Amino acid sequence: MNPLNPKIVDKFGRPVRDLRISVIDKCNFRCPYCMPAEIFGADYNFLSNDQLLSDDELVRLAKLFAQLGVTKFRLTGGEPLIRPNLPALIAQLAQIPGIEDLAMTTNAYFMAEHAQALKEAGLHRLTISLDSLDNEVFQILNGRRSTVDRVLNGLAAAEKAGFKKMKINCVVKKGINDHTIVDLARHFKGTGHIVRYIEYMDVGNLNGWKLDDVVTADEILAKIDAEMPIQPVPPNYKGEVANRYRYLDGEGEIGIIASVTKPFCGDCTRARLSSAGEYYTCLFANNGTDLRAPMREGVSDEEMLQLIGGVWQRRTDRYSELRTSFTRLPAKGAEMYRLGG
Ligand code: GTP
Ligand code: 5AD
Ligand code: SF4
Ligand code: SF4
Repeated sequence: MNPLNPKIVDKFGRPVRDLRISVIDKCNFRCPYCMPAEIFGADYNFLSNDQLLSDDELVRLAKLFAQLGVTKFRLTGGEPLIRPNLPALIAQLAQIPGIEDLAMTTNAYFMAEHAQALKEAGLHRLTISLDSLDNEVFQILNGRRSTVDRVLNGLAAAEKAGFKKMKINCVVKKGINDHTIVDLARHFKGTGHIVRYIEYMDVGNLNGWKLDDVVTADEILAKIDAEMPIQPVPPNYKGEVANRYRYLDGEGEIGIIASVTKPFCGDCTRARLSSAGEYYTCLFANNGTDLRAPMREGVSDEEMLQLIGGVWQRRTDRYSELRTSFTRLPAKGAEMYRLGG
C-alpha cells in the first residue's frame, strides 16, 4: 500500500470514505435498544480517562484516516457532548486537510449550553435522536432520562446557533412508538429539518432484538404516505445510508434507514473508531483492531498507515446482506454504545 495514494479499497472494491468516531462511551440516556438500564447500572464500568483516546491521539488517527481517503467524519458516542472540551477537539478535526463534511449525532440533552461553541468550532451538521414527540412514549425509549421539551429546546438552540437542515433520527420499535411516527413527520414538515426513521437493528448482544420488534421501511412509508403523500428522490451521494422521500406538496423530505429489510452493504465506505481506539470495519464486526496500544508504544505514522490501510484492504464485511433469512447471525462483539451506530 502506498500511503500517498488515497485510493485504498477493500476486497469488494469499496474505498474508505467515512470515519465514525465515538468520542466517549458514556451516555446520560438509557435507551432500552442501546444501553438497557438493567445492564448499565450505577456500578457499570465505563472507560476511565486513561483508557479513552486523548484529543491528540484521536486527531492523529483522524489525520491518518484522511490520508487513506476519508473525507467525512461523524462524531458519535455514547453521548458525544459528555466528552470534556469537545469544541476544542472539533476545531482540530475541522482543519484536517481533505475533510469535506464534519457531523455529529447527539441526543441534544446538553445542546442548549454547547450549540454556539460547536458552531464556532467548525462543526458542519447535526443529527438529533428523537424517537417520539409523545412524552410518555419518549420516556420509555430513553429510560426516563429526558423529556421531549428538553430535546426540542436543544434543537431550538442549535437552530439559533445557525445549524440548518438538521436530521432527526427515530428508531422505530413495534408496539412502542410506531403509532407516533406520523406525528413526528408532521411536526418537522416544512421546517427544513429531515426526519429519518431507522429500522430497529440487531446490533450488539444486549437489546434482546427480535424480528417481531421491527417495523419495516415499507410499513413506515405507507403510514406516512397515507396522510402526507411522498415520492422517492435519488440519493445525495453514492452509498447514502438513508433512502430519501419528498413530500409532494414541496414541504421537505424524510429518510428511511432500512438496514434490516433493504441492506446497503454494497456501497459501504464506513470505518468506525471506538473511544478506546478500536478500529472496526463494520457496525456488526466481532472484533476491532486496537490502534491505541501501538500508538502508545510509539509506532510511527508510516507504520500506523500500513496497519490501518492493511485492515481495510482485507475487509470483507457485509453483515446486513448476509442476514438473508431475516434472523440474527451468530454472536457479535461490538455494542452500539461503543460504536455510536
Ligand atoms: P448523513 O451523514 O447525513 O448521510 O447521515 P448518516 O446516515 O451517515 O448518519 P447517522 O449517524 O444519522 O446514521 C443513522 C443511523 O443509520 C445510525 O445510527 C445507524 O443506526 C444506521 N447506520 C449508519 N451507518 C450504518 C451502517 O454502515 N450499517 C448499518 N447497518 N447501519 C448504519
Ligand atoms: N437499532 C437502530 N438504531 C439504533 N440506534 C441505537 N441503537 C439502535 C438499534 N438497535 C440509533 C440511535 C441514534 C443512533 C446513534 O443510533 O437512535 O439515532
Ligand atoms: Fe445514549 Fe444514543 Fe444509546 Fe440512547 S441510543 S443510550 S441516547 S447513545
Ligand atoms: Fe457496512 Fe457492515 Fe452496515 Fe453492511 S452491515 S452497511 S458492511 S457497517
